[in-house]
Amino acid sequence: MRKIFLFTLAMAMACVSVFSVCTFAEEHQPVRIENVTIDPEAIASREWLPEYEQLVRIALEMRNNYSYAPYSHYHVGAALLGEDGVVYTGCNVENASYPVGVCAERTAFVKAVSEGCHRFRALVITGAASDKKGSDFCAPCGMCRQAIREFCDPDFPVIMVEVDEDGVVQAYKIYRLEELLVDSFGPDNLT
Ligand code: THU
Repeated sequence: MRKIFLFTLAMAMACVSVFSVCTFAEEHQPVRIENVTIDPEAIASREWLPEYEQLVRIALEMRNNYSYAPYSHYHVGAALLGEDGVVYTGCNVENASYPVGVCAERTAFVKAVSEGCHRFRALVITGAASDKKGSDFCAPCGMCRQAIREFCDPDFPVIMVEVDEDGVVQAYKIYRLEELLVDSFGPDNLT
């Protein structure tokens, strides 16, 4: 009787762990947005493009569900569209030793580069304090601007969005990277 009980318990535990692995894998399926080329004129004129909607949804999901910010309580999400069509995701990951924490944008870039993607089409960022319903504009910090510069051209679009509690975009800012980092120092300076 005891053996049957133990066997049933072991089977139940195995099912639960298989189920959790499947759920995790499903949640982390990378999203792809294929064949997108963003017209530099559209970026310069700060035109809102349909592709940005999906990036907003993903950045918000990162901000709401994955950001690890137990110290600042300020949660940030980022969605970075690679030239390979993959949306690389990022959130801020803080640390008890404060300077060790990483911003959402750099998390996304590090993930992308470590997967072999070095060219990018657009970046969406959003962030807000934990008690906020919805999310605010979150400007990339200076260190992130320089990190973006390593891999992106001066006309790369950096998009900040403010969304309401239903995830609907209320306002947006579209900048060319060059506007956020004037006269920047980049890889070309070292060739
Ligand atoms: N943060 C980002 O993730 N991105 C930025 O560009 C601005 C700041 C994070 C870092 C820290 O975890 C929290 O926001 C408060 O500074």
